[in-house]
Amino acid sequence: MKSYKIAVIPGDGTGPEVVAEAVKVLEAAEERFGFRLDKTWYDYGGDRYLRTGEVLPEGAAEDLKQYKAILLGAIGHPDVKPGILEKGILLHLRFALDQYINLRPVVLYPGVDTPLKDKGPEDIDFVVVRENTEGLYAGAGGVLKKGTPDEVAVQESINTRKGVERCIRFAFEYCRRRNKGKKVTLCGKTNVLTYAFDLWERTFHEVAKEYPDIQTDYAHVDATCMWMVKNPEWFDVIVTDNMFGDIITDLGAMIQGGMGIAAGGNLNPEGVSMFEPIGGSAPKYTGKNVINPMAAICAGQMMLDYLGEAEAAQAVEAAVRRAVSENLKSLSAGRMGYSTTEVGDLVAGYVRG
Ligand code: IPM
Ligand code: MN
Repeated sequence: MKSYKIAVIPGDGTGPEVVAEAVKVLEAAEERFGFRLDKTWYDYGGDRYLRTGEVLPEGAAEDLKQYKAILLGAIGHPDVKPGILEKGILLHLRFALDQYINLRPVVLYPGVDTPLKDKGPEDIDFVVVRENTEGLYAGAGGVLKKGTPDEVAVQESINTRKGVERCIRFAFEYCRRRNKGKKVTLCGKTNVLTYAFDLWERTFHEVAKEYPDIQTDYAHVDATCMWMVKNPEWFDVIVTDNMFGDIITDLGAMIQGGMGIAAGGNLNPEGVSMFEPIGGSAPKYTGKNVINPMAAICAGQMMLDYLGEAEAAQAVEAAVRRAVSENLKSLSAGRMGYSTTEVGDLVAGYVRG
C-alpha cells in the first residue's frame, strides 16, 4: 500500500479541534482509496513555548524535512505577545523549508453565502499565488534612535530575480493545469514601488512569453481589491508579492464565505510543503466544539492533491461541497447547525460514499 510520511502540528487554540476533524476526513479517504498517511504529531505552539521557553526546539525545521508534507492547525496564543509564535514558528518554517509559494484558492461553493451582491459560484473561482519567502516579510531593515522623537523605522522589501521568477513561473504552470479562463494577473504597485515592481513586471512579461496560450493582465493592488469585490469573475490566477498576497487573500476568504472555509498551501514543489487553514487560532472558541473545521478539511484536501492522490482529493472536495450546500446553515462558528465534530463526521461519511 502506498504510504506517505506526514507531520501534523495542531498548534494553538482551536487548531487541535479542527485538525482532528481534518484527520478524520483524511482517514476516510485513506480507507476508501487504499493509501496510508503515516502521521507524526508535534506539539509546537504557544503552550509548548510557555512551558519550555523555546518557540521551536533546535533543528526542528531540519527534522521536518523527512516528511512529504505538514498539516498545520493554527499558531497564536492569547498569553504570548503577538509576533513571537507567528515569526518563530509559522514564518520560520515557511522560510527554513523554502516554501516559496503560498497557494490560496478563492472558491465560492454552491449554497455558501457571499457578502457580494449578485455574485455566485460561477463568478468567484480563482486562485492567488502569493510569494512566500521574500518581500516585506524578509525581515530586512532596522530602527534608529529608538524611543526618541527622532525615531526612524525602516522595513525593506526584498525582491530577488530568482524568487520573483520562480513564483511567476509557478503561477503560469498552475494556470495551465487549471481548466478555467487561462489568465494570469500580476497584482503589484508599479506606479509607486518602482524598484520592486519593475522587477516583477519585467520578469512577468519574460516568463509569459513561454506561455503563449495564457492571457496576461496587470492590476495595482488597490484596484485588485476593488475588482475582487466588483468583478471577481475577471480573475483566474493572481500572482503577487508576500504582503499584497497576505492582504488580498483575507479579502478573498471573505468573498468565499469566510475564514471557516479558506485554506492554503505553503509549497516547496521540490521539498516539504505545509497546508493550513488561513484563519487564526480563534482562542475564544477553544474547547467549545463550535468552530468550523471546514478550512482545515480543505487544507487536508489540498495536501492530498499535492501528494498525488487526485481521486481522494476530488472525493474530499465533493464531500465538502455537498456538506456546505446540503447541510451547514452557515460557515460561522456556532451557527453551522452542527458541532465541530459533527461536521467532521458528516464530511467523512460523504467521503466514504
Ligand atoms: C497568513 C497570516 C500570517 C502572515 C501571519 C500569522 C504571520 O496572516 O498566513 O496569512 O502574515 O502570513
Ligand atoms: Mn494573513
